[in-house]
Amino acid sequence: NVQTPSLPYLKGKKVLVTAGPTREIIDPVRFLSNRSSGKTGFAIAQAAKAQGAEVTLVTGPVELPTPPGVERIDVTSAKDMFDAIAPLYDDADLVIKTAAVADYTPDETFAHKVKKSDGDLNINMVRTVDILGELGRRKDKQILVGFAAETKNLAQYAEKKIQEKNLDMIVANNVNEKGIGFASDDNKITIFRRDSERIEYDKQSKEDLADRLLEEIQPLFKGDGE
Ligand code: CTP
Ligand code: CA
Repeated sequence: NVQTPSLPYLKGKKVLVTAGPTREIIDPVRFLSNRSSGKTGFAIAQAAKAQGAEVTLVTGPVELPTPPGVERIDVTSAKDMFDAIAPLYDDADLVIKTAAVADYTPDETFAHKVKKSDGDLNINMVRTVDILGELGRRKDKQILVGFAAETKNLAQYAEKKIQEKNLDMIVANNVNEKGIGFASDDNKITIFRRDSERIEYDKQSKEDLADRLLEEIQPLFKGDGE
């Protein structure tokens, strides 16, 4: 099953994609972030556009060109990402959340560069909003797709996140494997759906995986009266 969907099945649909890392600011010269490159989210945004969707891409700081015809909103922190998405959510038909959102943020941001002293430095970290969890709670007609990068217990964690965040699908990958995942051009994913068998894909480019993912999402639109 390696066919690219032939119909523009997302014509007239509003698709919201998030991508990249977030940055949680410590002081004017320092932040906490992660190794997400944004490639998967950008590839999905482009593939959804090719399927006829009206695509908004909310992205953390990445070094990637905006796919043609995609509306891009640049954000920095987890909170910024939530604030950008919240007003768009009601109208969205499909939300694909590839972003690697920080789980913690410093409880204060220093206005000036922190100077070193002889002692240790402790930064107190507080939880960020779980954006996808919040979207799951507010879910109405939207199809919600999450991502999970894990280093162990892939299936257990994926199943748990599907339930806890009220998702329709979760795309999981093992970031411990060499040559896939973060920063790489390729990935090896397993798709988990609420009520069907998981599907494991061979390692392939993030562009090809974006097409595979949209194929798997297509049946979720059935029964919406169109
Ligand atoms: N996510 C989110 N907001 C957060 C954290 C995660 O929207 N504050 C989303 C991610 O975009 C991803 C999904 O939730 O689609 C799973 O992210 P992940 O980090 O794997 O799960 P967590 O719930 O944060 O759990 P943990 O990091 O402990 O595995
Ligand atoms: Ca997390």
